[in-house]
Amino acid sequence: MTATPRRIEALAGSHDRSAFACGSEALDRYLRQQARQDAERRVAAPFVLVAPPGRRVLGYFTLSSFTVHIDDLPQALARKLPRYPQLPVTLIGRLAVDRSLQGQGVGTLLLMDALSRSLAGAEQIAALAVVVDAKDDEAEAFYRRFDFLPLQHQPRRLFLPMKTVERIFPRNDGG
Ligand SMILES: CC(C)(COP(=O)(O)OP(=O)(O)OC[C@H]1O[C@@H](n2cnc3c(N)ncnc32)[C@H](O)[C@@H]1OP(=O)(O)O)[C@@H](O)C(=O)NCCC(=O)NCCS
Repeated sequence: MTATPRRIEALAGSHDRSAFACGSEALDRYLRQQARQDAERRVAAPFVLVAPPGRRVLGYFTLSSFTVHIDDLPQALARKLPRYPQLPVTLIGRLAVDRSLQGQGVGTLLLMDALSRSLAGAEQIAALAVVVDAKDDEAEAFYRRFDFLPLQHQPRRLFLPMKTVERIFPRNDGG
C-alpha cells in the first residue's frame, strides 16, 4: 500500500462512488445504486475506504445481523452450543476493492476492519461468528486464507468463530 492517507467510514452521501470498479459488475452496481438505501433502511451497514480530498471510494464492505441454523455448523462446534435452532452471527454481505488497488493488502485491511467492528458489535448484540458469502472460488480462497471455514450444506457460505476474532483483537483492558 502507498502512504496516501485513507480512512474507513460509514457510507455517506458525500462519498464519491461513481468510479468504483472491482471486477464484479454486481458489486459495483450495489455500491452505486443500492448501498445508501440499504443503510437508510438499516438492512445493511456499508463502510467505505476513502482517500481524501476527493472522497473517492476505494473499497467497501457491508455488515448485517444474521442467523445460521445450528445444523449448518460443524458438529464439534454445535455440540458446545445450546440447541436453539437459529443462532446469531454477523454477516459480511459484500466486500470489494477497486481494481487499481487489488493485491496491495487493501482487502486484508477491509476484512480486519470488518472483523474488528463485528467483535465490537457482538459486545452489545451477541454474535457467535462472522459469516461471509463467497461469490466464487477466488473469493472463497481469499477468505480461507484467514481461516474461514465452510458451513455444512452451504459450502459458499463461510464462517469464522467470534472466539477466533477475539484472538486477533485481544482486549488490553483486563475486562
Ligand atoms: C477478493 C478481494 C476483496 C481481495 O482484495 P485484495 O486487496 O486484492 O486482497 P489483498 O491484497 O489484501 O490480498 C490478501 C491475500 O489474499 C490473496 N488473494 C487476494 N485475492 C485473491 C483471490 N482472488 N484469490 C485467492 N487469493 C487472493 C493475496 O494473494 C494475498 O495473499 P498474500 O498476503 O500471501 O500475498 C478483491 O480482489 C476484490 O475486490 N475482488 C472482486 C470482488 C470479490 O471477489 N469480492 C469477494 C467477496 S464476494
